Amino acid sequence: MAHTLVPNLRPALAERVRYYHELGIYDFYLRPLQSPRLVEAVLPEEPSASSLSAPLPRSQSDFREEMAIRKSSAAPATGKVSIFESVTPNSEQSVADPVVALSLIRQDLGDCTRCKLHQQGRKQIVFGVGNPHAELMFVGEGPGADEDAQGEPFVGRAGQLLNNMIKAMGLRREDVYIANIVKCRPPGNRTPERDECETCSPFLMRQIATIKPKAIVALGAVAAKNLLALNAPMSELRGRWYDFKPAGSDPSWPGSRLAVTYHPAFLLRDPRQKGEAWKDLQMVMKYLGIEAPKKAAEEPPR
Ligand code: URA
Repeated sequence: MAHTLVPNLRPALAERVRYYHELGIYDFYLRPLQSPRLVEAVLPEEPSASSLSAPLPRSQSDFREEMAIRKSSAAPATGKVSIFESVTPNSEQSVADPVVALSLIRQDLGDCTRCKLHQQGRKQIVFGVGNPHAELMFVGEGPGADEDAQGEPFVGRAGQLLNNMIKAMGLRREDVYIANIVKCRPPGNRTPERDECETCSPFLMRQIATIKPKAIVALGAVAAKNLLALNAPMSELRGRWYDFKPAGSDPSWPGSRLAVTYHPAFLLRDPRQKGEAWKDLQMVMKYLGIEAPKKAAEEPPR
């Protein structure tokens, strides 16, 4: 039986269900219990964004089909507290001013110890920076050493290139909002691990739901895969739009469009791809109705 397999299974499941709710997944089903891997039997391996407009790769659409099973067949909670009743409204949800709402999210985050990154040498939490009314939001992977030292995303070398990209688009850094999938520096700049992304991303979803940008640019594969819950190479992820709307966000807001481009750190290593990244940004500019300054319109950012 479930409770004899893993101690603390219930809080772990509740946390997991909360995360799926943040992604817009509400329907779960229970397979007949055949193996002791109960968690995998009840919950899927991969989370799914609920609002992708385009056809999904087969494995993902299979997964979404599984998730579409009727709510009435949801796994009944066997204990005293239902794990499906554990979601409380976020503190900022009734607040109209995004400046106040963002500060409430920051307050909720606190001196976060929710994942192991807090014990792995982070100096501070890097929440996000920019215009709370921004039409355009950039999402990177996670803070590096410079960001960890300064408490602001994209302030190192990759940040300088991102600034140039923003400028080439005819915008200023203060016009956009910049955040990351994880808010604490992974040690040695390693890729953030799945549990770290899962723990942190509800806060990013709340930031997006607050700012309500018209467009989001995912910088690099880690950001793209985490936001879209798609496991595809960059060549497949780029060059198209995705509809993106965090669960629980304002029903009168139609949601964002999300584009994927190369991470500036990758572009520093392989500058030949800057032209491709510039094409991605031009797609975003067209959607936002932004005219690039004359010189930048012809040349990719340096
Ligand atoms: N790389 C990222 O993904 N984010 C930052 O904030 C800085 C570098």
